[in-house]
Amino acid sequence: MNPIIQADHIGKTYRSGKLEVPALRDVSFEIETGAFVSIVGPSGSGKSTLFYILGGLTSPTSGTLRIQGQDFSRLSDAERTKLRRLHIGFIFQRFNLLPTISAYDNIELAHTIAETGKPLDRSLLDHLAGLLGISGRLHHRPNELSGGEQQRVAIARALITKPAIVLADEPTGNLDTQNSDAVLEMLYKSSRELNQTVLMITHNPEAAQIADRIIFMRDGRVTKIEASAGRMAVAHSG
Ligand SMILES: Nc1ncnc2c1ncn2[C@@H]1O[C@H](COP(=O)(O)OP(=O)(O)O)[C@@H](O)[C@H]1O
Ligand SMILES: [Mg+2]
Repeated sequence: MNPIIQADHIGKTYRSGKLEVPALRDVSFEIETGAFVSIVGPSGSGKSTLFYILGGLTSPTSGTLRIQGQDFSRLSDAERTKLRRLHIGFIFQRFNLLPTISAYDNIELAHTIAETGKPLDRSLLDHLAGLLGISGRLHHRPNELSGGEQQRVAIARALITKPAIVLADEPTGNLDTQNSDAVLEMLYKSSRELNQTVLMITHNPEAAQIADRIIFMRDGRVTKIEASAGRMAVAHSG
């Protein structure tokens, strides 16, 4: 299978005045199309920096990132924005739903903003809402929903444009254990059904086990990449 993401010797150094903070050093890996991969590491290990680079939200200071074979750095800003809108879905720790409109409108708005050129696929929206267990909650505003429900709405929002790649930064970071497990299961199920490639960042080694493969990070470096012990191991561990 073709790798959909190729990170080749990526480095990122933040500069403010004379201060230099190396956040990523010589990070290389490939992600196969359709894989579900976790990136795990302690706070400050460079996970969010990698998330922003993979999403085209910031540029590496060295190295090359290829998405679907295209060198990100060779794209114009407009081309990069288009690739991001059409092919990448984002899920954040703090849900980032708009508070004044309903769950349904949040999902619909994401579709509008992506400018796919296609009308909203209402049957997909209904299907995702079913998979994510929020069918009865769509006409509520975010503050009328639990944290777990808000994150499931945010997952539907990320998936409604059928992105090839889903990037999630600590998607269960604001949830309790029970909600985390449910949300991870649903993210896994819905992304498998839509044949998506998922990169999920987490500082929680147990949550990381939902993936097929785990990339371990420390101090801005990849320390190892290995097959996950598997979801069954997690299911039986508690
Ligand atoms: N905008 C920034 N400016 C300067 N340093 C930053 C910035 N963002 C992150 N860093 C630093 O880069 C390192 C990696 O941060 P980050 O990618 O947020 O790690 P993680 O998500 O694993 O906690 C940390 O030392 C952090 O302080
Ligand atoms: Mg982070």
